Amino acid sequence: MPHTIALVGGTGPEGRGLATRFALAGHRVVIGSRDATRGEAGAAEVLAGLGSRPHAAVSGADNATAVSGADLVVVVVPYAAHRATLEGLRDALAGKIVIDAVVPVVFNRGPRPVDVPDGSATEEAAAILGGSRVVGAFHNLAAEVLLDPDASAGADVFVTGADAEAKQAVIALAGEIAGVRGIDAGPLRFSRFVEQITILLIGINGRYKAHTGLRVVGLDAH
Ligand SMILES: NC(=O)c1ccc[n+]([C@@H]2O[C@H](COP(=O)([O-])OP(=O)(O)OC[C@H]3O[C@@H](n4cnc5c(N)ncnc54)[C@H](OP(=O)(O)O)[C@@H]3O)[C@@H](O)[C@H]2O)c1
Repeated sequence: MPHTIALVGGTGPEGRGLATRFALAGHRVVIGSRDATRGEAGAAEVLAGLGSRPHAAVSGADNATAVSGADLVVVVVPYAAHRATLEGLRDALAGKIVIDAVVPVVFNRGPRPVDVPDGSATEEAAAILGGSRVVGAFHNLAAEVLLDPDASAGADVFVTGADAEAKQAVIALAGEIAGVRGIDAGPLRFSRFVEQITILLIGINGRYKAHTGLRVVGLDAH
């Protein structure tokens, strides 16, 4: 069944990249921003990238409006804005599936992990959003690949969380992106591994001038 998916902080490359792929898969997408005009401009960019390919509706709004009409929400703000953004949207996010794709990273002569007291950004989101169905996913998919509507990602998406039904919905959503397989990566406490391995990928990307992803072998029979 098609979702209505809001991207909080969706004006950045990761949000626009995911929006591109979700719209191609037939889901209505709303690009959220702190500023409705920037959200609308982000939606226009996504639509321009989609060109004449068949896709579902893409619009822009301020974050709170975007979230209010969505059944599924993806959080794609920088880690520095994570806590304040989620605290501001806590009531609006109650009861919804919230996918956290935020990597706790700072750039200081290369990418460096940020120490998160809760263990990971996804666990932090679950602690803040007690009434939401928080799932971690999409941390290891490079925006540059997602933004090319014709590129096959050839990568896995590791999905973590405590809500089995929400995780299955996100695994299915990930599998709708060309060349992507969603994998149940376990409970919320495993989110730290998924988030932090992105820092390794960013370093490899810099050295090889590439946009890398991850693929687990040995699961083909499952
Ligand atoms: N880029 C990638 O390839 C990639 C891959 C995997 C995961 N991620 C993760 O996905 C998230 C987004 O990545 P990105 O590269 O798209 O990030 P970004 O461009 O730095 O930020 C995304 C959006 O967040 C909003 N934002 C910035 N500062 C904010 C603040 N202080 N408070 C509230 N909102 C703020 C901005 O939107 P408005 O100004 O319109 O509000 C911005 O366009 C990050 O956590 C990143 O670690 C990125």
